[in-house]
Amino acid sequence: MEIRSVEEIQVEGKRVFVRADLNVPLKDGRITDDTRIRAALPTLRYLLDGGAAVVLASHLGRPKGRPDPAFSLAPVAERLGELLGLSVFLAPDVVGPKVEPLARDLEPGEVLVLENVRFHPGETKNDPELARQLAALADAYVNDAFGTCHRAHASTAGMASLFPPDRRAAGLLLLKEIRAFERVLDRPDHPYVAVLGGAKVSDKIGVIRNLLPRVDRILVGGAMAYTFLKAQGIEVGGSFVEEDKLELARELLAQAREEGKEIALPADHVIARDLSAEAETRVTDGAEVPAGWKGVDIGPRTREAYARAVAGARTVVWNGPMGVFEIPAFAEGTVAVARAAADSPAFTVVGGGDSVAAVTQAGLADRISHISTGGGASLELLEGKTLPGIAALG
Ligand code: 3PG
Repeated sequence: MEIRSVEEIQVEGKRVFVRADLNVPLKDGRITDDTRIRAALPTLRYLLDGGAAVVLASHLGRPKGRPDPAFSLAPVAERLGELLGLSVFLAPDVVGPKVEPLARDLEPGEVLVLENVRFHPGETKNDPELARQLAALADAYVNDAFGTCHRAHASTAGMASLFPPDRRAAGLLLLKEIRAFERVLDRPDHPYVAVLGGAKVSDKIGVIRNLLPRVDRILVGGAMAYTFLKAQGIEVGGSFVEEDKLELARELLAQAREEGKEIALPADHVIARDLSAEAETRVTDGAEVPAGWKGVDIGPRTREAYARAVAGARTVVWNGPMGVFEIPAFAEGTVAVARAAADSPAFTVVGGGDSVAAVTQAGLADRISHISTGGGASLELLEGKTLPGIAALG
């Protein structure tokens, strides 16, 4: 699909509506990680330097379609202003009579941030009337909200189609994300290794099915490994298992065999009596977990084998932690994969909250080829889905 870049549309002297994903984590009203705001800066700087006025929209959290001060974009607008070195105005509403004059009077080089688009009940319903009111605020539309492109909402897919093709475009972040995923989905170099973790096989079914024909190996970690192990008749003790997904796990293993691919499972584990930092822990000799114990991380032999596979790959996709990463004693497997991905000469793409947190906390982020800003959106791309927010730009 041909998608215009923001660099290919007329922006000088125009009011440009930018949909960004500024859905950052907050604690007691303070931003705890401003990565998504920083990721939006290149497009905003490009537009402001190019003589555009910017009307900027985002959601924050999941307010219930009405104003809720806990989800105001005020802290985001303030942080954005600091990062841009500009005073950024925050509109008192999403659309309507209080917002329209502010947008109309914007001068080139100025930024107006709309209030949280999810304060309006029409946003998540993709209401055409809200889309029309949002579109009326600007001359051109730029979607840079990769993390929200899997949502067909009024400020994403809904309003894009209200602009003619030469006045709608993808922002620089969205293009970077699209290119990285196109590379691993359509033109990967081999050997190609996918590392998949997290709690549930059910969250990764679509990804496994879509990646198996493309990759050489899938390395499985996290609690989802126990469903695969149990499906093969291996004792997993008190580890988390999706009992209703055992048949599915067998099907996925059979699909891998038919395609001549490998789904690698942990050969040893860190096990604990319970999921607490104080719990008694051990390392198993083999793939079995004894009764009364839970698997909480991949073991040292598995760490080494997975790190070796990642080191020897030319393409690596990683989504999901290898263990209960929030507890430091159970994070070694995840950190080992993060290190291996950083050291690997491969084109490496990391998506999903915990895997991204692991590379960031280990100070390895700048050695990963592409860290995705979208959790759900990146999973849907890896599942082979078309994202409505991207499709609407074509
Ligand atoms: C995210 O954080 O994954 C995106 O901002 C989308 O948020 P949502 O899941 O609330 O739509």
